[in-house]
Amino acid sequence: MTITKNTDPSAPLLSVEDLNVRFPTEDGLVHAVRGVDYTLRSGEVLGIVGESGSGKSVTSLAVMGLLPASARVSGSVKYRGQELLGQGDRAMSRVRGKGVSMIFQDPMTSLDPVYRVGYQIEETLRVHDSKLSSKAAQARAADLLGMVGIPNAAERVRSYPHEFSGGMRQRVVIAIAMANQPDVIIADEPTTALDVTVQAQILEVLQTALSETGAAMVLITHDLGVVAGIADRVLVMYAGRPVEIGGVEDIYYQPRMPYTLGLLGSLPRLDSSTKQRLTPIKGSPPSVVNMPPGCPFAPRCPLHVAECDVAEPDLVEVGGGHTAACIRIDEVRKAGGEAAAVFDEAADDRLLGSEQPADLAAAAGTADAGAPGDPVGERTDPTPQAGTGSLLDATTTPSTTTDGDRR
Ligand SMILES: Nc1ncnc2c1ncn2[C@@H]1O[C@H](COP(=O)(O)OP(=O)(O)OP(=O)(O)O)[C@@H](O)[C@H]1O
Ligand code: SF4
Ligand SMILES: [Mg+2]
Repeated sequence: MTITKNTDPSAPLLSVEDLNVRFPTEDGLVHAVRGVDYTLRSGEVLGIVGESGSGKSVTSLAVMGLLPASARVSGSVKYRGQELLGQGDRAMSRVRGKGVSMIFQDPMTSLDPVYRVGYQIEETLRVHDSKLSSKAAQARAADLLGMVGIPNAAERVRSYPHEFSGGMRQRVVIAIAMANQPDVIIADEPTTALDVTVQAQILEVLQTALSETGAAMVLITHDLGVVAGIADRVLVMYAGRPVEIGGVEDIYYQPRMPYTLGLLGSLPRLDSSTKQRLTPIKGSPPSVVNMPPGCPFAPRCPLHVAECDVAEPDLVEVGGGHTAACIRIDEVRKAGGEAAAVFDEAADDRLLGSEQPADLAAAAGTADAGAPGDPVGERTDPTPQAGTGSLLDATTTPSTTTDGDRR
């Protein structure tokens, strides 16, 4: 079967539905990806953000059909309406490179050290165009190297990967990814192995790749700062699952899931008018083996209440295609995008009516928090942070519930 002939040009470029990936291991079944849904439209850049182990790479490897044979994959991955899950390697190789191409985190895993870089680009071109003459392939390889900013490209096509710096190797990998004018480029942490100045250059090269090819892109990173300037929409993953999806402005300025707010708080921001300390998220992500019921972020969440442990929250619409998986989105809204209002050590008792999880309480140590359920008015509250007044005003003072939680 020829996959590319069975595609529907009017269907979304890439549509992922209820994708689940499980790996049998000695410790039990690792449920690495738990119900990922997203749609990528023409020309769009979708940023996928999350901590290490949140399932970003496994999601993308599942899309490309590159998971190890032991992986149990269910759900649906459609490229232009054509189902990719369950396709054999031969059928998938028609999609890879031309339909969807991938840039991996470490360029040395993508480049073969024993072949010249020009030859490696030419090979990629010939896989999808067997009639291409070697002269034309050589010329195109040099063009591509020039496009990604390699000086003296006509000469450098004869270099081996070890003759290039890390940043230059990543440029070569991007040239290979754009060689066949793919519809979609999936870039998995393309800048993580590089120093900060080279990171900025590589992001520019990615933008060049998009404008030259007209491709849409899935940009995977653990750094919300990286997607800020380039993504149209952002999907935040936690413990194998999307926990917030929205336009880039919504995610940065009106996050509704405490985890997203926490990620923003651990990021230095040049766009803030006030001096703010960074507020890291305490603790670490849960194991994805035999997960307990309830919200997976609960052990690290200052907004946690008993109800959070009952069932894992679904993504709910918060407006304009923006969705978040949290039962306390209203409280997050009141933070006005200020992470300190939720994650600052001084914030937890005064604002949020949270029933603090044991490990967060332990981390707070001798913090001056009163007993859960103390009315806010009886505390000596710290001075409010700029921009968080709405959290403290009378209309938002939490009410005490029968179980002692303030909501
Ligand atoms: N082949 C495998 N067998 C068992 N578990 C696996 C396998 N591959 C990945 N995992 C597990 O799946 C989970 C998700 O891994 P993944 O590589 O997708 O994380 P990630 O979000 O890309 O992290 P990073 O930012 O470190 O790249 C992790 O818990 C990982 O240990
Ligand atoms: S408030 Fe509850 S549901 Fe929302 S992120 Fe925190 S623990 Fe999860
Ligand atoms: Mg990864």
